[in-house]
Amino acid sequence: MARPDWAPNEIDLERPSIARVYDYWLGGAHNFAADRALANQAVGIMPSLKSAIMTNRAFLRRAVRFLAGAGVRQFLDLGSGIPTVGNVHEVARQAAPESRVVYVDLDPVAVAHSRALLSGDPLVTVLQADIRHPADVLDSPEVRDQLNLDEPVAVLMVALLHFVPDSENPAGIIAGYRDRMVPGSYLALSQLGTEPGEEPEGWQRYRDLYAASVTPLSSRHRIEVEAFFDGYELVEPGVARMPLWHPESPDDLEPDADRFPGFAGVGRLRS
Ligand SMILES: C[S@@+](CC[C@H](N)C(=O)[O-])C[C@H]1O[C@@H](n2cnc3c(N)ncnc32)[C@H](O)[C@@H]1O
Repeated sequence: MARPDWAPNEIDLERPSIARVYDYWLGGAHNFAADRALANQAVGIMPSLKSAIMTNRAFLRRAVRFLAGAGVRQFLDLGSGIPTVGNVHEVARQAAPESRVVYVDLDPVAVAHSRALLSGDPLVTVLQADIRHPADVLDSPEVRDQLNLDEPVAVLMVALLHFVPDSENPAGIIAGYRDRMVPGSYLALSQLGTEPGEEPEGWQRYRDLYAASVTPLSSRHRIEVEAFFDGYELVEPGVARMPLWHPESPDDLEPDADRFPGFAGVGRLRS
């Protein structure tokens, strides 16, 4: 397969990546045949997946608008993905043009595109790093130059934590960021999840497909997602089905919103 100019040399075009599969679902152009094959297979198993991804992206926009409205001017977007319409800095700037953003992703394509799109913007920085190592992220020159950790920061982990299994201690990773933030900072996250016994049609086959092709998915129950907000005061309505977190229009409230296979929440760090 011909390697396009924008594809960094180190990436394996034959192996799907989380970021590129997600890009394909969102209608982006930065993906390869292997990504599209996996994405199409997954949607064949769970047709609702495509709209679920849009729902997640809509949550991201609502959460950033909420945070900007709450006065937050610094955003650390962990697992930011390939830039697409409605990026964090664009949404935040509509409320507050001085908002500063650091995008962090491990994926070389996501990072290359973010850099290409954002180079020259003094209020946005892109960092290639593994979010499972909070100190590496927080002590990086990119974060230190762009963000002032003595002021509140919103840490975003949107559609990220289902890629971090319990064996890798996601609560410890969250704490690694939380413990470096000042009170009044926020955590906003979303992740795949269901309540016990309500797995949608195809759920297990979808997870098996991901485990075999790219990475295992850790779906979680609401109570487990709530536990990620240890030290934070949850904003109303607490951890909710993704479409039910601060819906802004009837479009946000899709059919079966109360059985949507994913949870979302925003919490404010306590003093
Ligand atoms: C499903 S995308 C979500 C993108 C964006 N946050 C959103 O919700 O629209 C998940 C992203 O997390 C990134 N990711 C997964 N594990 C990561 C890790 N350990 N460190 C950094 N990025 C990671 C993937 O590369 C991918 O771009």
